Amino acid sequence: MAELIVALDVPRQSTALALARGLQGTAPWCKVGMELFTLAGPAFLEKLRDLGFKVFLDLKFYDIPHTVGQAVKAAASVGVDLLTLHCQGGQRMCAAARDAVEGLAADSPSRPLLFGVTVLTSFAPGEMPGIESDPADFALQLARQAKNWGLDGVVCSGQEAASIKAAVPGLRCLCPGIRPAGSSGDDQRRVMTPAAAVAAGADFLVVGRPILEAPSPQDAARRILNEMDDAQQQR
Ligand code: C5P
Repeated sequence: MAELIVALDVPRQSTALALARGLQGTAPWCKVGMELFTLAGPAFLEKLRDLGFKVFLDLKFYDIPHTVGQAVKAAASVGVDLLTLHCQGGQRMCAAARDAVEGLAADSPSRPLLFGVTVLTSFAPGEMPGIESDPADFALQLARQAKNWGLDGVVCSGQEAASIKAAVPGLRCLCPGIRPAGSSGDDQRRVMTPAAAVAAGADFLVVGRPILEAPSPQDAARRILNEMDDAQQQR
């Protein structure tokens, strides 16, 4: 069953909290990315957990293995259910993250799922610096590695989910770049509708602006959830 994650990409903690309160009981997950985390810090993650949300910390770690391992431990200690790191950090960096999770004490506040970013959904073909491959091919190549390196899943476009799920059984796909039919793509380039992403096998859909900028974020989230449910019935 695919799950909806609302990306709280807003410039004020008070706005994020009001949005989260409005989405309580509708969306199961909230995502805190670099903008909000930089402003509000770990205390905000706790507020989300207190409201009953599962927390996705999207800081896309990319550093030397030791630093990333320590950052993963720090994230677990403040209570995070899922976090991201870049697959392009390579085998040793991803293994350090995996080892950090496996080494957590049983009483740790959380054991985050580790998701590797393949190719950002804002990249169109030809835009990745120094990489000639097509984004879909490169994402698949990284997804195969991610599974070998012990990650729980990958972040990819919905357009790549079907081929990744077919080629790498057991690896979960988290898909941003989700746009309801007729809405603006904004800076995203490899987009898909909620229904199409669910049909392609996505496990998590991350949606920001189509919900945040809607006249009623709750209604927008409900519409997306209904679309996901319908697509799930047909999967
Ligand atoms: O507003 P929008 O729905 O485009 O937001 C998508 C969210 O997903 C943003 O928070 C962005 O940081 C995140 N994301 C992404 N592409 C990735 C990984 C994360 O758009 N590959």
